[in-house]
Amino acid sequence: MRAGRSGARVALVTGGGGGIGSAVARRLADEGAAVAVVDRDDAAETVARGIRADGGHAEAFLCDVSDEEEVLALVKEVVGRLGGITDVCCVAGSIRRGTVQDLSLEDWHRSFADNVDSVFLVCRAVLPLMERAGHGSIVTVASGWGLRAGEKAAAYCTAKAGVVMLTQAMALDHSPAGIRVNCVAPGDTRTPMLAREARQLGQSDAEFLAEAADRPLGRIGTPEDIAAAVAFLAGPDADFVTGSVLSVDGGGSI
Ligand SMILES: NC(=O)c1ccc[n+]([C@@H]2O[C@H](COP(=O)([O-])OP(=O)(O)OC[C@H]3O[C@@H](n4cnc5c(N)ncnc54)[C@H](O)[C@@H]3O)[C@@H](O)[C@H]2O)c1
Repeated sequence: MRAGRSGARVALVTGGGGGIGSAVARRLADEGAAVAVVDRDDAAETVARGIRADGGHAEAFLCDVSDEEEVLALVKEVVGRLGGITDVCCVAGSIRRGTVQDLSLEDWHRSFADNVDSVFLVCRAVLPLMERAGHGSIVTVASGWGLRAGEKAAAYCTAKAGVVMLTQAMALDHSPAGIRVNCVAPGDTRTPMLAREARQLGQSDAEFLAEAADRPLGRIGTPEDIAAAVAFLAGPDADFVTGSVLSVDGGGSI
């Protein structure tokens, strides 16, 4: 296990019960961080238990990170149980595939709640702690579709573009306080989200995965591919990096 940076490192990972979030939680725990594995799904508990079984430090927290009161209570509880928060990784998100004509207003609002409100609320609650500490690192997870539109994903693309811009706005506003804010934009990555997309589009998993692998490096991503990029941006090797958007997509956006 590698040591964290000086002082105790405590990472709050939203969406920590999901495919990418669980890989991020495991990776940061391997780097010596105590990890708050946050999700609205109780898969967070399984992930935290797995990290502890491997000798790491992790605790699960059940929270809907699109709910203001739940987020305020979450941050208080994490600080109480883990002693502070030095790193935030905003991985939680959801997708509803469809054109503007296919989507209900509820789909639209849910897309913004899970993908954008979640980042706003968690960062707003944690920033005062980081400001007091004089340092902190935030990594958001957008999507290649936050940079370039994809078909039948109007709400998701718009929400993820919002995540990219929110990342850069926060990077500007909070750099004087020593806080870095960066974004990872994954391409198709093998997680439960991909299977849900295939179902929403009425495609078989095999058909969907074959199309998704059609990119320069010839495969879809693994959660660990994305976690490595998140860990780089979160950690001390990226001390001079803020406001950046790192595409991790096997060249899919070239
Ligand atoms: N898998 C991909 O191909 C892909 C590509 C680009 C971007 N992304 C992004 O990566 C992130 C992780 O996705 P994934 O593929 O691991 O999907 P996933 O469905 O496996 O994990 C997402 C997790 O976020 C949680 N979540 C969603 N909304 C929440 C909320 N309001 N409060 C608490 N938890 C919430 C879910 O319960 C789930 O555990 C998402 O932001 C997604 O948009 C994924």
